[in-house]
Amino acid sequence: MSVYTTPSGEVTVSSLQAMKRAGQPIAAMTAYDASFARVLDDAGMDFVLVGDSLGMVIQGQSTTLPVTVDDMIYHARTVRRGLQRALLMVDMPFMSFATPEEALANAGRLMKEAGAQMVKLEGGSAQAATVHRLNESGIPVCAHLGLKPQSVHKIGGYRIQGRDEASARAMLEDALALEAAGADVVLLECVPAELAREIAHNLNVPVIGIGSGPDCDGQILVLYDAIGLTPKPPRFAHDFLADTGTIRGAVEAYIEAVRERRFPGVEQTVA
Ligand code: KIV
Repeated sequence: MSVYTTPSGEVTVSSLQAMKRAGQPIAAMTAYDASFARVLDDAGMDFVLVGDSLGMVIQGQSTTLPVTVDDMIYHARTVRRGLQRALLMVDMPFMSFATPEEALANAGRLMKEAGAQMVKLEGGSAQAATVHRLNESGIPVCAHLGLKPQSVHKIGGYRIQGRDEASARAMLEDALALEAAGADVVLLECVPAELAREIAHNLNVPVIGIGSGPDCDGQILVLYDAIGLTPKPPRFAHDFLADTGTIRGAVEAYIEAVRERRFPGVEQTVA
């Protein structure tokens, strides 16, 4: 149990908010099954994301686009069984939130059928109405900005976003609009470190980074990037298994490095 959890030791949305206010870095990682979820939970991860990255790392697809709501429910249910304390966040896959009503129906399934405690969706201020709809129905939301892998065909590849002044301003405005619409967490993927710092500074809700420098309120990594299972890992990742020799040790080393603000270091900070 920590000062940020419920008396029974569970991490909630309020815990994440309290951690932001206290300047305590939030540590998160993806998981796709009960065994890994248990390791992450035991090691003290604050939240576990069942990411639609499962389309690539579990299913072997070339993008996340083919992943379905049923796929997410299957994996999220298995992860749910491995968790006792960490908060469970589940991704809304491509086209499962095309309208606020579809988003509500699908997010409802993720909560009811899989035990999600927060859903994550990719998109900027165009998703504000959807975030508002979910928020007023009592569904916690994480808004994913920066590199949005579900838009890979639109943006023409997996690359850093928000490099120029105009797109950086637009991203900050998106983040503020989503927070105003009720987003509980904002996740920034592959955003220049300086912009990520500015967004984290301007938002009241926790800002979690991946490939977005050290100054976010917390960090998340794809599990398989952290244990050397990704053939060509992104530059912002680090193989903690190579350092420690066990999966449990790797997960603990990651959490410690995030808490002590040693990860990401300069070599994992892209811009
Ligand atoms: O799907 C996923 O695993 C994600 C992470 C990259 C944050 O969205």
